[in-house]
Amino acid sequence: MIKSPRGTRDLLPPDTALWNFVETAVRDVFRAYNFHEIRTPIFESTELFARGVGEDTDIVGKEMFTWEDRARTWIEQLAGLDEVIVRARQDPAYKASLDTVKLFEEYFAPGILKAQSLTLRPENTAGVVRAYIEHKLWDRGLNKLFYIGPQFRRERPQKGRYRQFYQIGAEIIGPAAAGSQSPARDAEILELLATLLDRVGIKNWTLELNSVGCPADRAKFNEALRQALAPVVDKMCADCQRRAVTNPLRVFDCKVPEDQPIIETLPTITQFLDEACRTHYAEVKEILNAVHIPYVENQRLVRGLDYYTRTAFEFTHGALGAQNAILGGGRYDGLSEALGGPAAPGIGFAIGEDRLVLSLMETVSAESVMRKPDVYIAPLGAGMNREAARLARELRRHDLVVELGDESFRLKKSFEAADKIGARYILIVGGDEVAANAFALKHLASGEQVTVPRAELAQRILQTK
Ligand code: HAM
Repeated sequence: MIKSPRGTRDLLPPDTALWNFVETAVRDVFRAYNFHEIRTPIFESTELFARGVGEDTDIVGKEMFTWEDRARTWIEQLAGLDEVIVRARQDPAYKASLDTVKLFEEYFAPGILKAQSLTLRPENTAGVVRAYIEHKLWDRGLNKLFYIGPQFRRERPQKGRYRQFYQIGAEIIGPAAAGSQSPARDAEILELLATLLDRVGIKNWTLELNSVGCPADRAKFNEALRQALAPVVDKMCADCQRRAVTNPLRVFDCKVPEDQPIIETLPTITQFLDEACRTHYAEVKEILNAVHIPYVENQRLVRGLDYYTRTAFEFTHGALGAQNAILGGGRYDGLSEALGGPAAPGIGFAIGEDRLVLSLMETVSAESVMRKPDVYIAPLGAGMNREAARLARELRRHDLVVELGDESFRLKKSFEAADKIGARYILIVGGDEVAANAFALKHLASGEQVTVPRAELAQRILQTK
């Protein structure tokens, strides 16, 4: 038997009803906050994540699904050349602009035959910022974008941790002149998240908040970490020994239990924040207090991606066990520049949808959010499938959920089928009914049966919805 690959899973009904319930609710919330959807590719060039997320992070260093894409074949290149010839025939200006050297460089230069390194996206922020730069989205001022989709990380699978998982995320990004750097945006994102979790029905979340400062603060902090680590690092795991040299901040990502007592004693970034970062952080907290969003400060929260500046946060939930971060995010004021774009401060988050659904399952059953069929149509006898299909078509136009039986079923089997799928009504379509153009409609829970003229059927079923 062929099984789904390790760390991936099939989402089946009725569970998918919970996923749809969550996605509908979050789309409503995003609408209220004036966010609009962006869809970026599921794979991007590897370099995007290396430069965006950071070479020293676990995500880029260990967890990416990366492959060398096949080089273009000569046939594919000749097909490209074909398009050029067709266009040159149609467009004299284009023909005049072509020169042989350019043609050669574009279609026959050996560089083009080189393979390109591609990666399944491990997260979506780098892709959004790439799209911001590629499409010059700064022309639009402040961009408020959201996405829902799969991400891929080669992690050790366990409850709440998968190799293909789903994120619901949002980003606010734009030129500083559009207000993208304002602490008001940080607070708006956090207040949105509190609203979103409440709306979906997630209770007992904790917002953990920190400021990781700006690059200058980070340099001072990294230096302090290097000094603090120097006398103890040889007692730590191999990863930490490497991190202590390349990027000491990443020591905080360490999960090895024996290293934790050492990590507990390390300095925190808070001591190194400059005046502007302190003021920014204080204002975020003031607005949160004003809108009554509770938070706890966690000076050790640095997040697992390199692009963060200033505000960093996670929402945790007790029901999740070891993988208790239901979502994470923060500010990334230098990411656009790191990817070759203009200055474009931004802030965003990503919810782990798998974990959100897991938490929700504590209190809400998939069945309770699934829409059951309103009516089961039971064709009775030869030739009745046609009549039943016509009726189903009419009723479905009224936004009723209709399940269609088969004329080969006996009445008893139709009742059993209607019962099994939880239909509210069963509608009998036999020769007599068709002749009278009025049908027997039975309410399954109460057993009440009435004969209803065809024109009144939909209304009758809708009334008792
Ligand atoms: P992240 O903390 O790496 O941040 O991931 C966000 C959330 O995705 C996590 O809190 C978790 O719920 C979920 N998640 C991560 N890995 C897995 C996994 N293997 N299985 C299941 N769920 C997982 C980011 O991805 C940033 N791009 C967030 C962001 C947006 N920051 C600014 N804007």
